[in-house]
Amino acid sequence: MRSMESSTGPSHDGSPSRSSKRLLHIYPRSSQTMEELADASIHLIVTSPPYPMIAMWDAQFSLQDAAIGKALEEGKGNEAFERMHLLLDRVWKECYRVLCPGGFLCINIGDATRTVGSEFQLYSNHSRITEACRAMGFTVLPLILWRKTTNAPNKFMGAGMFPAGAYVTLEHEYILIFRKGDKREFRTPEEKARRWESAFFWEERNRWFVDLWDLSGVRQELGQSAGWGRGAKTRETSRAQEASKAPIESEAIQTPEASRIP
Ligand SMILES: C[S@@+](CC[C@H](N)C(=O)[O-])C[C@H]1O[C@@H](n2cnc3c(N)ncnc32)[C@H](O)[C@@H]1O
Repeated sequence: MRSMESSTGPSHDGSPSRSSKRLLHIYPRSSQTMEELADASIHLIVTSPPYPMIAMWDAQFSLQDAAIGKALEEGKGNEAFERMHLLLDRVWKECYRVLCPGGFLCINIGDATRTVGSEFQLYSNHSRITEACRAMGFTVLPLILWRKTTNAPNKFMGAGMFPAGAYVTLEHEYILIFRKGDKREFRTPEEKARRWESAFFWEERNRWFVDLWDLSGVRQELGQSAGWGRGAKTRETSRAQEASKAPIESEAIQTPEASRIP
């Protein structure tokens, strides 16, 4: 976890923003319980959980519920899928608790296609999460479909060119957007002024508030040596988690775009 202060940059008229300091805390442990956070204290949650039924996350889910590994071994895909989501449901419930009325939960998630046992099928993570969040009391808002094309040679699954065993290739993920309760109200002059400072430019609004994003990834220049991949990052995170349950202090990096998002 980190704790850091940062400047949010100037407001639209070029003067320093009044809310020019932000503090960031990072807690390196499960979000199923966030006891450090008071009820109704958070305005925005943006998260990318492990994707159920994508093989790279099997071990993490199975560590939390051994029945998941067993279900996968026995070819019970639907049971494994549901058990993985029951673990994530705890996180969404905790998100609901800590969000302020009118606060947002944004979840980046992809669906999975997989053969378990002898059966190939789609595991629709985005619809399972949407229905769980709706049942918890979230208001479901329009979602973003994030197109991520793949050039992988095995992109055409199933029987390739032959009907009826050829399957469409998944080349998108989702950003699901939920709100806790009704729209936030801005009553005091200070709240109204801050809302004005947070406004998007017209061009930004047109770019980001569309339901189809077609953004390809960019290489992250994190300063590590070549070959430093996702797995290595995950291992380091695990080491950090073991090393300390306390917040980590560090410096904030904030993009100009981020500074304008309310
Ligand atoms: C799809 S990845 C997202 C990675 C992240 N967006 C990044 O770029 O590093 C899912 C992440 O969630 C973490 N994770 C899994 N279960 C979690 C939990 N209960 N609470 C918090 N994080 C969790 C995993 O360790 C993994 O780092």
